[in-house]
Parts: sequence; C-alpha cells; structure tokens
Amino acid sequence: MILEAKEIFKTYKGVNKELTVLDNINFQIEQAETLAIVGPSGSGKTTLLGLCAGLDNPTSGLIQLAGEPISQMTENEKADLRNRKVGFIFQNFQLLPTLTALENVMIPLELQGRAKGAKAKATELLERVGLAGRHHHYPSQLSGGEQQRVSLARAFSNDPAILFADEPTGNLDEETGLIVENLLFELNQEMKTTLVIVTHDLELANKTNRIIKLKGGKIIHDQFIKTAAIK
Ligand SMILES: Nc1ncnc2c1ncn2[C@@H]1O[C@H](COP(=O)(O)OP(=O)(O)OP(=O)(O)O)[C@@H](O)[C@H]1O
Ligand SMILES: [Mg+2]
Repeated sequence: MILEAKEIFKTYKGVNKELTVLDNINFQIEQAETLAIVGPSGSGKTTLLGLCAGLDNPTSGLIQLAGEPISQMTENEKADLRNRKVGFIFQNFQLLPTLTALENVMIPLELQGRAKGAKAKATELLERVGLAGRHHHYPSQLSGGEQQRVSLARAFSNDPAILFADEPTGNLDEETGLIVENLLFELNQEMKTTLVIVTHDLELANKTNRIIKLKGGKIIHDQFIKTAAIK
C-alpha cells in the first residue's frame, strides 16, 4: 500500500461556526494504481490532495505515505519524504520563472542530492515529453502546453512512488490537454508510479483504474473501474 487515509477531518474556523471541509475520509491506495478524485467545486478535492502530499495537516486523522505517517511529521521530515517519494503537477504549472526548462526539471534531483547526473536525466526527460531544443527557454517563452510538459518532466524526475496532479489539463485547450494527458499515462506506465488526479474531466477520470467522488467533504462513491494494469 502506498497511501492510506484514516478518519481524516479538516475543519476551518468560520465567523461563528466551524466549517468542515473534509468529513471522515477513509481510503487505501495500492502501488501503481491510477485514481481520479472528482466532485463539485468546493467539495474538498484540492484540500485532500494537499493533505495526502503533506503540504497541509489534517485537523484529525492519520495519513500514511509509503508506510510513513506524513500527517504527524515535522515540516522538515515531510519535505524530505516528498523529495524522496512524491511528484506534483499543478493546474497553473508552477514552474520557477527565473529558471530555464532544464533547470526546473533538475530541481527535484538536486534536492535529492543527485546533482551529478541531474543534467543528463533532465535532458532525457525533456526529450521524452517532446521538448528537445527547448531546454534553455524560460517559462515565459513557452506555451501553456509546453510549460505543463516541463512540469511533467519535473514531476517524474525524482522517480516518485506517487504522483499527485490537481487539474493537470484544466488550463489547456482540449487538444493540448490530450497531449499532456497521454504523456502523463505513458510515463506513469513506464515508471510504475501511482497516479492520483483531481479532475473535472470525466473522460480523463475514466482513463484511471478507480474514481473517488467527493461531495461536501465526504466520499460518496469509490468505484474501481478496472484492475490496475501493473502491480
Ligand atoms: N484556508 C482556508 N480557510 C477556510 N476555508 C478554506 C480554506 N481552504 C479551503 N477552504 C474551503 O474548503 C472548501 C474546499 O476547498 P477545495 O479547494 O478543497 O475545493 P475543490 O474541491 O478543490 O474545489 P475546485 O473544484 O473549485 O478546485 C471550500 O469551501 C473552500 O472555501
Ligand atoms: Mg481544487
């Protein structure tokens, strides 16, 4: 098992009452599973992803990532676990604007202390996502689809055991979104990464092994579509 959420609650203090954003969430995800989290706006998808990746802490409950209790770690321990095990893709790409495409892809490797082979690996990954010849471009010199392909290369560069993607095609047109989507699944298959995607796009969700539907902070459906291709 790569990820387990046990009795997760997340609440925020409102003006005169508490706002419950996640309300007793429980699930287990196996290594190499692909999973989509769907649900209406405000249902808690991004919040849940952030908790699973250790970017935020639950109000109560336990999250185990790769056998380690990420919800109970210090910030430094969480950052270290993320560097070793986690990849991320955001809707708005979140590349560092002052670094080139190549340098952006090298960051996770450098954070892992793998600076030595970082350049060769980043070069290979940029080629893999079809951006050979764009290594020295800055994010502002790349289209949205190209930026998302750089962030795909970055997300896979540290060989993550699990990759979280929050609306990875949300800011792209349909055709470009499909290119990014196909690359995401191809790399996922090659590297046997576990893939957790938050999406509004039901076609994208249907390409995963499992769909979890949130509503009002609760899981209202948890459906296996097909068994994981790789174990
Ligand atoms: N820091 C915060 N303080 C108070 N409320 C918050 C905070 N962060 C999120 N929320 C609330 O938590 C709820 C869930 O937000 P979240 O971003 O997880 O939704 P989502 O399902 O990702 O929505 P979308 O599809 O629009 O991205 C929302 O009602 C939001 O207003
Ligand atoms: Mg969201």
